[in-house]
Amino acid sequence: MRLILLGAPGAGKGTVAKMLTAIDGSVQISTGDILRAAVKEGTDLGKEAQGYMSRGELVPDALIMGIMGERLLEDDCQSGFLLDGFPRTIPQAEALKELLTKLNIELDGVVNLNVPRDVILDRLTTRRTCEDCGAIYNVKSNPPKVEGVCDKCGGKVVQRDDETEEAISKRLDVFNEQTAPLVGFYEKEGMLWDINATSSDEVVAVIKEKLGIA
Ligand code: AP5
Repeated sequence: MRLILLGAPGAGKGTVAKMLTAIDGSVQISTGDILRAAVKEGTDLGKEAQGYMSRGELVPDALIMGIMGERLLEDDCQSGFLLDGFPRTIPQAEALKELLTKLNIELDGVVNLNVPRDVILDRLTTRRTCEDCGAIYNVKSNPPKVEGVCDKCGGKVVQRDDETEEAISKRLDVFNEQTAPLVGFYEKEGMLWDINATSSDEVVAVIKEKLGIA
């Protein structure tokens, strides 16, 4: 499958992407995960991105397109990809369109995950993430079996740096200003799948139905 997962911070893009990769081996490409890994490794990209991320702002489009222009050419993308957190601005969406046309790749659809704001705020303040493998947990709905320890790899399960109340509020404002207009962009392209994303199982079921997967 070749899908874009669109949605506010905490809408469940990462959770749904991980469930979808288990179906047919399509790769999850999360620009947030790529940037967090770069910050952790202290690369030039990480140093440049860190300030934007901890303030809850978007990293400049040119940096993101540099990453994605290379990532989409890698071999593991041949069997399908789930774009999680990209594109996030109209210029990124336009650049992606141009890139996919050049590579002769067609998207199956753009999944818009709709979740009420109060649910989002609750999810973000209760999310925990594995520092090592990126597995996503929630202290209320999906805690690790042993507190602070990843079920999958034994890594440390922590709260992300951008999960302060101030950064969450900034990320939601940035989403409304810069990312929400992508809904109209993809609607015009005839590619938008608007889905109620209160239940991740239901989101996956709708996507499978649209793709004709049993
Ligand atoms: P990024 O990592 O992409 O963060 P985000 O978009 O804010 O999305 P999140 O990861 O916070 O949420 P999610 O929708 O994946 O939800 P999740 O599945 O974890 O980006 C971080 C930063 O990087 C940005 O602020 C920006 O600075 C930079 N960046 C990244 N991409 C960029 C780009 N393209 N351009 C510019 N800058 C970029 O779920 C959330 C919680 O809810 C979890 O605890 C989960 O367990 C729980 N949950 C999920 N679904 C359900 C459910 N159905 N029921 C109950 N609980 C649920």
